[in-house]
Amino acid sequence: MNQMTPIHDAGELRKIVNSLTEFSKLTLEEIKTLDPYLYYSPTMFELEVEHLWSKEWILVGHVAQVKKPGDYFAFDFLSEPMIIVRGKDMRIRAVSSVCQHRFMPLVRHNDRGSVSRFTCPYHLWSFGLDGQLLGATYMEEHKCFNRKDVKLPEYRLEVWNDLIFINLDDEAAPLAPRLKPIEQRMSVFKVPDNYVTCQHHDDVWDVNWKFVVENNENYHSSAIHPNTVNLGSPTHMYRADLAEHGEGYCSAFWGAPADRPRAGRPVPGYAGEEVLELCTVFPMGTLSVMPDSVSIYPYWPISAEKTRITALALSHPDDVNQEWEEDHSKSFINTFLAEDYSAVGGGLQWAVKSKKQKAGMCSNQEEMVLRVHQHSAKVILDAIG
Ligand code: FES
Ligand SMILES: [Fe+2]
Repeated sequence: MNQMTPIHDAGELRKIVNSLTEFSKLTLEEIKTLDPYLYYSPTMFELEVEHLWSKEWILVGHVAQVKKPGDYFAFDFLSEPMIIVRGKDMRIRAVSSVCQHRFMPLVRHNDRGSVSRFTCPYHLWSFGLDGQLLGATYMEEHKCFNRKDVKLPEYRLEVWNDLIFINLDDEAAPLAPRLKPIEQRMSVFKVPDNYVTCQHHDDVWDVNWKFVVENNENYHSSAIHPNTVNLGSPTHMYRADLAEHGEGYCSAFWGAPADRPRAGRPVPGYAGEEVLELCTVFPMGTLSVMPDSVSIYPYWPISAEKTRITALALSHPDDVNQEWEEDHSKSFINTFLAEDYSAVGGGLQWAVKSKKQKAGMCSNQEEMVLRVHQHSAKVILDAIG
C-alpha cells in the first residue's frame, strides 16, 4: 500500500462522509456500530490510512524491550519497515530498516535481539545504532560518496510512561499533552527496572481493525471467555467507562473478583487494587492493568480485512518461571486471543457483508465503540473537509 493520496470514487466518498457525519451526531443513549460496509470498504481503509494511521501516535512497545544499548525489535508498520533501537547515548530511536544502498531490509519483521551495529546482508554496508552509516565496502573510490551523508531515516518516537509510540507524521503534535489526564494513572507502566517482558504474541487476523478495537469491551467475556478473561474481569462486574474521556483515549473499569486466578505479585504503584482498567489510546493501542499484571496490545491494520495483533506482558522476573510461562502466559494469552479470533474473525468479518445488515445497537458497556469511532470520524472528516 502506498502513502500517495488515493483517487477516491466520488460517490463512494460521499456515502462515507454522510455515514461518518451521521455517526458523529450519536449520543451515548443512541450508541451503535458503524454502518456495516465501513468495516470492509477499501475506500474507507484508504481514508483511515491516509488521515488516521499515518497521522496518529501508534503504540508499538515498552522500554523494557530495549533496556541496553543495541537492544532492538523490528516490525513493519503499514508500508514502513522499522527498527526500534536503543543507542549508545541511551536514546530510543525508530529508524528505517531499509538499507540506504539498494533497499535491502537490514532486519525483518518480528526480529529482535541485541547488536553493536546493523549490517546489511546483501553487500555488508553497516549502520550504527543511531542510523549513521559506519562502513560501506569498496565505496572509498567513489568520488560522489561521503559516508557521513548516509543515514537511516528516523521516525517520530515518543516515550510516554515507558510506553513507546511512533508517528509517521513528522509534524504531529506531541502525544504527552493529549494524555495528560491519564498520565498519573497509567504511570503503572513505569515498572521497576528488573521487570521483564514476556508473553510475546504476534499474529495476523483476517479482520478489519475496527472490529478488533471494538472488542476491547468486556461485554463479550462471559460468553466468549468463560474460563479465561471472565475469571479475572467478569462481564457482570463492569463498573463504568471513565467519565472524563479525553480527545484521544478512553478507559473502562471492571471489578476483579477476590478468587480470580493470580498472574503474579501485586503491580507496584497500582492504586485501583481490585479493579481492572482497560485503556485504549486511539486509534487502538490497548493498555491492560490488572491488580497483578500489566500488559499491552499494540495492534494495527495491514489491509481493510487484515490486522496485526501483538501482545506483551510485563512481569517481575521471579514470577516468570517455566511453570508460569507454560500454564499462564502461553496458554492464557494464546487461549483468550484464539477465543476472540473465533468470534471476531470467524464471525463478524464474514457476516457484516450480509446485504440485509444494518448498524447494530450497543449496550452501555460498549461506550468505547462510540468514543473511538467518533474520534476517527472527526479526524477523517476534518481532514477531507
Ligand atoms: S543493499 Fe544493503 S549493502 Fe547493498
Ligand atoms: Fe475478548
